[in-house]
Amino acid sequence: MISSKLQDAINEQINKELYSEYLYFSMAAYLERIGLPGFSIFMRVQAQEEHAHAVKFYDYLLERQGKIVLKAIDAPEVDFESPQEIFEKTYEHEQYVTGLINNLMTISIKENDYAAQSFLKWFIDEQVEEEASMDKVLAQLKLVSDDGKGMYLLDKELGTRVFTPPV
Ligand SMILES: [Fe+2]
Ligand SMILES: [Fe+2]
Repeated sequence: MISSKLQDAINEQINKELYSEYLYFSMAAYLERIGLPGFSIFMRVQAQEEHAHAVKFYDYLLERQGKIVLKAIDAPEVDFESPQEIFEKTYEHEQYVTGLINNLMTISIKENDYAAQSFLKWFIDEQVEEEASMDKVLAQLKLVSDDGKGMYLLDKELGTRVFTPPV
């Protein structure tokens, strides 16, 4: 059975993952609205990934005989300035989430919960990927800058992203 401290922290993390889903889903709508359907697909897939993260924590907590306590999800922003602003915010948000995952690991170390440490390792690795993939798009956006043809091609490329459920 999991400690109540870790249980509370995982419930909080489920809420943060669902908020991430909400935020990226809102960004996807903005990107579609400004005529970038490929960027929108990329963000929709990102939102699906965040939902899958929430489910992963949810299933784990149940497996450890914990209690799921779902809380209200904050409303995400609706209006953004540019695709670049979106990816700057996304990169920052992923760094914030990395901090949350690290904090969960710190709790599980303090509690001598080796099973939780083993489980959390997947998320530690996942966050490295998340930060890198957002930083990559941000770098591409800076490269393309205001070039319409470049944006068109980048939109096409990002639109090829497909969701693969995490294992
Ligand atoms: Fe996540
Ligand atoms: Fe993420």
